[in-house]
Amino acid sequence: MTIIASRLERIAPSPTMAVTARARELQAAGVDVIGLGAGEPDFDTPDHIKEGAAKAIKDGYTKYTDVQGAIELREAICTKFERENSLNYTPDQIQVACGGKQNIYNAIMASVEKGDEVIIPAPYWVSYPDIVLLAEGTPVVLACSAENHFKMQPHELEAAITPNTKWVIFNSPSNPTGAAYSKRELKALTDILMCHPHVWVMSDDIYEHIVYEGFEFSTIAQVEPGLYQRTVTLNGLSKSFSMTGWRVGYAAGPVELIKAMNIIQSQSTSHTSSISQAASVVALNGPLDFLAQRNAVFKKRRDLVVSMLNQASGIDCLVPEGAFYVYPQCQGIIDKKTPDGKNLSTDEEVAAYFLDAEGIAVVFGKAFGLSPFFRISYATATELLEDACQRIQRACAALI
Ligand SMILES: Cc1ncc(COP(=O)(O)O)c(C=O)c1O
Repeated sequence: MTIIASRLERIAPSPTMAVTARARELQAAGVDVIGLGAGEPDFDTPDHIKEGAAKAIKDGYTKYTDVQGAIELREAICTKFERENSLNYTPDQIQVACGGKQNIYNAIMASVEKGDEVIIPAPYWVSYPDIVLLAEGTPVVLACSAENHFKMQPHELEAAITPNTKWVIFNSPSNPTGAAYSKRELKALTDILMCHPHVWVMSDDIYEHIVYEGFEFSTIAQVEPGLYQRTVTLNGLSKSFSMTGWRVGYAAGPVELIKAMNIIQSQSTSHTSSISQAASVVALNGPLDFLAQRNAVFKKRRDLVVSMLNQASGIDCLVPEGAFYVYPQCQGIIDKKTPDGKNLSTDEEVAAYFLDAEGIAVVFGKAFGLSPFFRISYATATELLEDACQRIQRACAALI
């Protein structure tokens, strides 16, 4: 008889975190490994934000805050939404959590029950389906093809909606593909949603600021104000401000839902650290010019990685609009044999081969719900990326 609850049988630990941990383990054992699995920028948190945290500590801002988030931070978030997304929210419509992941968890836990379906376009961020499963909901995975640049098409969305659909989750720019929907593409999807008033929308905008070549970011409630009353807009400090370890995410939506999400949070973490919240006020109210410099570095790396991967035999890589990931297809090496005679029949085996043969840690596509692909995070030093891509080229060339 096990102590472990049966709900644990429905979910798995995050495969992306598992890859990062495995790469660290091998590195610690002295193996020459380049980890391309991490979903976090390699840049440091900007100094003015760190100074904001230090000041908060000195000023004794060290006590509990409101569960929903300190009022100063919620006000800064409302100002951010108005300034950057033309969205009007009041502080009671905002929830601050321990990272964007907790906001999503809270929203799903507060709204989904047995029989409810959640449409999740694939490839998806690994946590969406597992959170839905924990809530006893049913993830409805909608495969979005590479031919459509991994973007959900309006007719595909229409076909996936049933009377049991509770949510559809959008993530643009996307983890794991970096694909981002233009305003026009979003409008075609919101037109469908306007015809289905029982469906709620979760717009995960956490990579909002990481876009290239003048791509203009848009979010659902902005593109279609008619959906404002049934949209939760999610964002956070982790990616844009290189603050993954600070654990600050936020959600905006109708008061009734936000209140329910606060009840869930009040019985788990209460709130994220008061120091992180103070630093987030400084981040949101402060300058954003560092973003352009960082994006210029990311873009160079993206171009390098895409070009080098496309020179690897059997690999086909699209140029994404944003985030810091590429999602190359590896169909061309499926069913080839490794030099020691192993058949590569899945992307999981391809990823294992890259790690064993060349010390390259990538995350296999199956983890994101669309095979045969793998994800590379290019939030890593340019020289390492160059080395890594050369190793992938070599690994592919060695296949028979
Ligand atoms: C698409 C997406 N949403 C949400 C998150 C959650 O971010 P965090 O909880 O670190 O703020 C991540 C992190 O990898 C992500 O990629």
